Amino acid sequence: MPGRTELAAWKALVAHADALAGTHLRELFAADSRRGERLGLEAAGWYLDYSKNRVTADTLRLLLQLADACGLREHIDAMWRGEAINSTEKRAALHVALRAQTGEEFLVDGIDVVPEVRATLERMADFSNRVRSGEWKGHTGMPIRAVVNIGIGGSDLGPAMACEALRHYSRRDLEFRFVSNVDGTDFSEATRDLDPAQTLFVVCSKTFTTQETLANAHAARTWLLQAMGVEHAVSRHFVAVSTNAVEVAKFGVDTANRFGFRDWVGGRYSMDSAIGLSTMLAIGAENFRGMLGGFHAMDAHFRSAPFARNLPVLHGLLSVWNTNFLAIESAAVLPYDQYLKRLPAYLQQLVMESNGKQITHGGRRVEYATSPVWWGEPGTNGQHSFYQLLHQGTRRVACDFIGFRDALNPLGNQHELLLANLIAQAEALAFGKSRQQVEADGTEQALIPHRVFEGNRTSNVLLAERLTPATLGALVALYEHSVFVQGVIWDIDSFDQWGVELGKQLAARIAPELADPKLPLAHDSSTNALIRRMRLRNT
Ligand code: F6P
Repeated sequence: MPGRTELAAWKALVAHADALAGTHLRELFAADSRRGERLGLEAAGWYLDYSKNRVTADTLRLLLQLADACGLREHIDAMWRGEAINSTEKRAALHVALRAQTGEEFLVDGIDVVPEVRATLERMADFSNRVRSGEWKGHTGMPIRAVVNIGIGGSDLGPAMACEALRHYSRRDLEFRFVSNVDGTDFSEATRDLDPAQTLFVVCSKTFTTQETLANAHAARTWLLQAMGVEHAVSRHFVAVSTNAVEVAKFGVDTANRFGFRDWVGGRYSMDSAIGLSTMLAIGAENFRGMLGGFHAMDAHFRSAPFARNLPVLHGLLSVWNTNFLAIESAAVLPYDQYLKRLPAYLQQLVMESNGKQITHGGRRVEYATSPVWWGEPGTNGQHSFYQLLHQGTRRVACDFIGFRDALNPLGNQHELLLANLIAQAEALAFGKSRQQVEADGTEQALIPHRVFEGNRTSNVLLAERLTPATLGALVALYEHSVFVQGVIWDIDSFDQWGVELGKQLAARIAPELADPKLPLAHDSSTNALIRRMRLRNT
């Protein structure tokens, strides 16, 4: 197969982007009075307005041709068939099976995995019901009042984001904390006001070999045992979520308290697997099922809708357009909902660990840009921070605005203010304010250039009626599939993460060198000097 840049659709997009370079969004809107509605799409409770992307009907036609030329349909089918689409690790990437509905079958190596998924969900529901009802008691016979999730990356960001996003639906008499960083401050601050007798640790690690998580889990064990005095207290205060039964048992967690999942669930795609146990403890099994229902609704849409009306496909292709043909290097996710404050951090891992790659499935170096840098903050806070750059900076940032029609916490007219700001920002980015308008305001001559907004800046607006478990699930599934679409176009493996290995190996070498000043150092001169400097505390 020819390289991506050799494809006719790719070449046509390059020429098309050139031809469109001088066209402003103002002109595109002026030429089509219904653009704002025509370039809108609804699925699984979400409405996407993509009209403020710098695209025409031709752009969309060519992007869809590119998707066909890259075999997007075949790749989606392969994912659903449980094929080893994670080519470098020779594994399926079948997170869609985690939200399978009655009657659906997902095969991995010829075996339907849905019954096991269902059985795990049942066990999680049973356990969380017992904890939430107070039937599950700690070692001294007291009910659990605090849940501390210990994990990092996908074993932290998903449940941390979901617990925050769905706090409105959560049990307020249970406290939820998340410990991820190997910095002892994280554990110490998370537990300093907790009562060990009423604390449950949920240790989440797909591999159960992750340095940070094991260090924190050992700290938690020590913290608990110092209070309880006896080893068997561990079984009432620790549960583990992992694919690695052997290491869980070695750590001392009762195997009855292990919740499993399979290696075909990537860490950053695992928030709806047993890794979501903390989420279920917070919102209850019914709401967790509601969230899975939302994921599934977006999955079903992604699987069946024609590409031209397919929300994740269009979202992904627009990101490709912005990245490869408009040379936009960064994307901001801007949720206008305080409950979604951890969504940007969650999406950073989902997007950048998935598509921050430069080698194709075939082992060649790509000749085009891959994942943009993702970042973000909730609105309206970001407006008083980095939006200056979004509006007038020299760099272009593609923005995703996210909002909900109904307030979960109505307070005077604050929700209207919130939504007004969201809509206004997208409008300002697209249309800006021309020199003539600024002059007409009677602006002092010297200030005119400073007060001009050139506009023509790209954004998507994603709207739903209300933040619910289901709309959250659908939103996450939308981004998961969008990332997949981008990975297919870029011909990269979106499901491995070799780029995190080298740092881990070097840290494992440096840790003992820091601890023992007598060990000889054989790094480069900078690394050696840094190690020596940080050793000083020991000498
Ligand atoms: O180092 C990156 C990573 O492997 C992520 O992909 C993963 O989500 C995280 O570490 C945690 O891994 P584990 O769940 O195995 O502890």
